[in-house]
Amino acid sequence: MSLPGDEAVIATNDDAAQCKKSAVDLGYWVDPFLGSLVRHTSRKLPEINRGYYARVAGIETLIKKFIDKFNGKCQLVNIGAGFDTLYWRLQTSGHKVNNYIEVDLPTVTSRKISLLKKVKELHHTEFVTPGSFTCDMHAKDFHIIGADIRKVHDVQIKMDACNIDTSIPTLFIAECVLVYLSIKDSTEFLKWIASTFKCAFFINYEQVNLSDTFGEMMIRNLHDRGCALAGADACMSLDAQKHRFLESGWDGAEGWDMQTVYANLLPKKEIDRIEKIEFLDEKELLVQLLTHYCISVAWLDKLNVDFSCIRF
Ligand SMILES: C[S@@+](CC[C@H](N)C(=O)[O-])C[C@H]1O[C@@H](n2cnc3c(N)ncnc32)[C@H](O)[C@@H]1O
Repeated sequence: MSLPGDEAVIATNDDAAQCKKSAVDLGYWVDPFLGSLVRHTSRKLPEINRGYYARVAGIETLIKKFIDKFNGKCQLVNIGAGFDTLYWRLQTSGHKVNNYIEVDLPTVTSRKISLLKKVKELHHTEFVTPGSFTCDMHAKDFHIIGADIRKVHDVQIKMDACNIDTSIPTLFIAECVLVYLSIKDSTEFLKWIASTFKCAFFINYEQVNLSDTFGEMMIRNLHDRGCALAGADACMSLDAQKHRFLESGWDGAEGWDMQTVYANLLPKKEIDRIEKIEFLDEKELLVQLLTHYCISVAWLDKLNVDFSCIRF
């Protein structure tokens, strides 16, 4: 069941999916699956499209390094996955994993599941679908569960139903999710992972540098749309982002703001390509946006696998 105030958070999924569709339609990256989940969208501003490109390309670069390191003998848990098409994109690029689990609030997962059932290419014939309305689906290597990560015990029970193995390398991804949770709730969730999994890596994408004037404006704009950033305190700086993991029992953490990722760390050839897609008038606004988002990573390495190769 959703809590009061969840509607605005749930709506952020539609926003993200539509922005991604806008960029995909223009050729920023290839995603033949998204159109089955998001049919219509309006064209977004060039700086929004470029920002989403950096987000998707940055996160995917690290995900593929993780999967390659373990030759796919690993698990992936996509927290607050929304309408993400990552599972199918990884299948297509040859980056299959043993087990892929998506978690989101039941309202979102039930909508996604009902859309998936209508699309032949995305439908899994082996999906277990008890009843016509369901917020959970289980296939051999792909699971979608409707759970609120503020309720760690519920998440644990639902993950057990996905045959999660806490002893093998597990990648957690949260793309614009933790910022909507209070620090108490996100800390509890991160502590649960740290005390449960032996070998885990976390990729977190969300806001950073929220204490400056532009950051304060971002908080105000979202607040005016009914969406409070309850976790803003962990998004004040890259150090605050890293600190939240170290405080929650993780062994190490690292982070980059998206301006650094875009300007210095993504392949120059790709940046040259996407910069030819649309003319960008206001370069300053793009830099402002990119400076206020980041990717942070953290690791738990009780098996001494050494995660140092999973960086930009
Ligand atoms: C901004 S959207 C991002 C969706 C997807 N990760 C992406 O980037 O395209 C945030 C997602 O987090 C989910 N979310 C927020 N709070 C959550 C919670 N407490 N438990 C599970 N999911 C949550 C929302 O329902 C929404 O789908």
